[in-house]
Amino acid sequence: MTAGDAVTRDTLGRPLHDLRVSVTDRCNMRCQYCMPREVFGPGFVFAPRQELLTFEEITDVVAAFVRAGVRKVRLTGGEPLLRAGLPDLVAMVAAVPGVEDVALTTNGSLLARHATKLRAAGLQRVTVSLDTLDPELFTKLSDTEISLAAVLDGIEAASAAGFVPIKLNTVVRRGSNDADVERVAEFARRHGHIVRFIEYMDVGGTNGWRVDDVVPSSEIVTRLSARWQLEPIDPNYRGEVASRYRYLDGAGEIGVISSISQPFCGACTRARLSAIGEVYTCLFGSHGTDLRAVVRASSDDETRAGALDAAIAQLWGARADRYSELRSAHTRARQPRKVEMSHIGG
Ligand code: GTP
Ligand code: 5AD
Ligand code: SF4
Ligand code: SF4
Repeated sequence: MTAGDAVTRDTLGRPLHDLRVSVTDRCNMRCQYCMPREVFGPGFVFAPRQELLTFEEITDVVAAFVRAGVRKVRLTGGEPLLRAGLPDLVAMVAAVPGVEDVALTTNGSLLARHATKLRAAGLQRVTVSLDTLDPELFTKLSDTEISLAAVLDGIEAASAAGFVPIKLNTVVRRGSNDADVERVAEFARRHGHIVRFIEYMDVGGTNGWRVDDVVPSSEIVTRLSARWQLEPIDPNYRGEVASRYRYLDGAGEIGVISSISQPFCGACTRARLSAIGEVYTCLFGSHGTDLRAVVRASSDDETRAGALDAAIAQLWGARADRYSELRSAHTRARQPRKVEMSHIGG
């Protein structure tokens, strides 16, 4: 079978198009809303090395997902650049026939060191998480020794290496970094980056999410419109999570990701692979399907590929996830345990 023969659809008719691959569950930051130090402290047990998929195993799984329809692959973590040799994985994934887009989501702290190698390996796009431009607030929110300056250096190095435009992800939380929205937008305008303001979500079970902490995207757009003239523009592709706006003065665009106020489950074509080889069909899933056991069950390439194809067809065919559309019903009822964002990379 060649890539594209099979169109796998879930129970709601959604095809499989994007795969997000977490390469490590570790991170060198401890953002309060993602890996709070009280939970992810010195006693926390991360996945031991032998439990992680090897690069060869990841590549086999990616190839199987491509046979099921995937065209975009995004490498995530934890912090993906903590995984040694990441550019090698980039090259292996980019070489899978049918892969059209390989992107990376990173906290930026190690980008200055790796940007050139990543570009040479075939990485096409980089997204950097950047919640504030205030150095003190950055240290408080990310609860780390790493300075904001290191992240800004990383962004600059990535631009210089040819990743243009860079996307910046800014999770906005009320009473935390919301005062910084205009400053981040101004920075992105000046440097030709595309910032996307993300509504703070109730992922995982450790961040103590409250609906009052969410700043609706409409409020962000209203605030930015008071300073610059903006107009909505069409999505780049069906199912794009960000709603786009362009500056009328020609200084690029911004995006807002409204997963709380305007859920986009209807067009959700994303699967998520954890570093230990489980597949989650929703960011808010409680159970992953173990593909590592499938990959490790056979040393014969053809048998392994067939088993992966069958497992993926089964798990996607059974998919009915639409958590964000059902969120209010969930938040009223008792919730099942949800996977942590650092485990599946957001
Ligand atoms: P592009 O390929 O550049 O369009 O990237 P993207 O916007 O799909 O990916 P990115 O990882 O930058 O997503 C940005 C943020 O949107 C994530 O960190 C999440 O906070 C949120 N997000 C992405 N995918 C989903 C999803 O499937 N469901 C929900 N609820 N939120 C998502
Ligand atoms: N809500 C929204 N976005 C989040 N991210 C992490 N936790 C949350 C949350 N609770 C974002 C990070 C990063 C991406 C991987 O996910 O800021 O950009
Ligand atoms: Fe922060 Fe990203 Fe690390 Fe989570 S994975 S702690 S959001 S830097
Ligand atoms: Fe997709 Fe789940 Fe997010 Fe809905 S909540 S868009 S189904 S990942």
